[in-house]
Amino acid sequence: MQILVTGGAGYIGSHTLISLHEAGYDFVVYDNLCNSSKESLKRVEKIINKSISFEQGDIRDKKSLQNLFKKYKIDSVIHFAGLKAVGESVEKPIEYYDNNINGTLTLLEVMKEYKCKKIVFSSSATVYGDPHTTPIKEDFPTFATNPYGRTKLFIEEILKDLYISDNEYKITILRYFNPVGAHESGTIGEDPNGIPNNLMPFISQTAVGKREYLNIFGGDYETADGTGVRDYIHVVDLAFGHVKALDYLNIQIKNKKPLIVNLGTGKGNSVLDVVKAFENASNKKVPYRIVERRAGDIAKCYADPSYAKEILNWEAKKTIKEMCEDSWNWQNNNPNGYIQGEKK
Ligand code: NAD
Ligand code: UD1
Repeated sequence: MQILVTGGAGYIGSHTLISLHEAGYDFVVYDNLCNSSKESLKRVEKIINKSISFEQGDIRDKKSLQNLFKKYKIDSVIHFAGLKAVGESVEKPIEYYDNNINGTLTLLEVMKEYKCKKIVFSSSATVYGDPHTTPIKEDFPTFATNPYGRTKLFIEEILKDLYISDNEYKITILRYFNPVGAHESGTIGEDPNGIPNNLMPFISQTAVGKREYLNIFGGDYETADGTGVRDYIHVVDLAFGHVKALDYLNIQIKNKKPLIVNLGTGKGNSVLDVVKAFENASNKKVPYRIVERRAGDIAKCYADPSYAKEILNWEAKKTIKEMCEDSWNWQNNNPNGYIQGEKK
């Protein structure tokens, strides 16, 4: 029996493949490589010392998915495939709804056809909108402020409806906080296209000399130092959360409604905290200047991770120091990401 990992060549997916392998799960990767390359899979193969079953295809392509389900004995799905850039989703809402929602619907149709009823879905803390208080619990109200966030919310609702229609489905929705860091080997990591939107890749590209300085978006938030606070979580901890989610689905007795779980550390770090931790880890200066707030940003966002501990027996272990060290190790060894020697 195999686990289908959609989007498995991407940042979180590639790290999860290693965790799955270590836990003894067999898997097949399905990815259209729109935001990744085969190089990440080659490097995972080196780390796990095993070749990976990979099929290139789009989750909106029903025929291709049917062929995949015919070829492999797929018992469950970890569904990472999706577009994830908030700003781009505002500019290209149709592409985001089509890719993320139509893609998920097509995947669910084919899963149904092949009686595959176990799925772990990548959701995001973005579904909490601007939370009324922190730490954030799973039962807080949900709200989306942009098309990307709405795709996550809609898919969560679709999955809940699917369970109502057939309670043999076993569904876990994982709400990630801010994934950062890289595998300790320094051979796989986050490889954003163009100018990074997210903090950690921007900091590491500044430290390696690709960017002149970091713009800190807002110094007047109601936080200890005025900069935004987030729950940064090491991608290796996050990856292991998927193994625990899968274990849970496999032992879970029937007729349990979809499980919704936060994957975060429960610790908030400000932008300046991260800059300092990164400077210590890399021994490089990260020049910055404080500029206007970024539209749509919130002051504080961090998880109450206690439900994940209780229900999945999972908790994040790695510190902000390790997150920065591993991000730096990846960036320093691969200044141009997976494309060696070329400027991106
Ligand atoms: P990523 O872009 O690195 O990986 C996503 C992968 O999906 C890529 O390899 C891409 O090529 C593939 N893909 C996209 N559309 C596809 C399609 N139509 N058919 C087949 N493959 C397709 O992103 P990531 O950071 O690894 O995120 C994985 C998932 O986790 C996404 O669903 C994302 O929304 C969610 N998530 C990410 C973060 C984050 O900060 N990285 C936070 C919360 C949630
Ligand atoms: C972003 C997404 C969110 C997604 C999350 C995890 C936006 C508005 N939100 O959240 O939907 O779920 O990533 O991937 O994009 N910062 C700077 N300078 C920078 C970049 C960021 O100061 O160049 C600050 C931000 O203002 C924020 C913090 O760093 O306070 C983290 O930002 P980022 O990494 O983009 O993540 P989020 O905004 O939390």
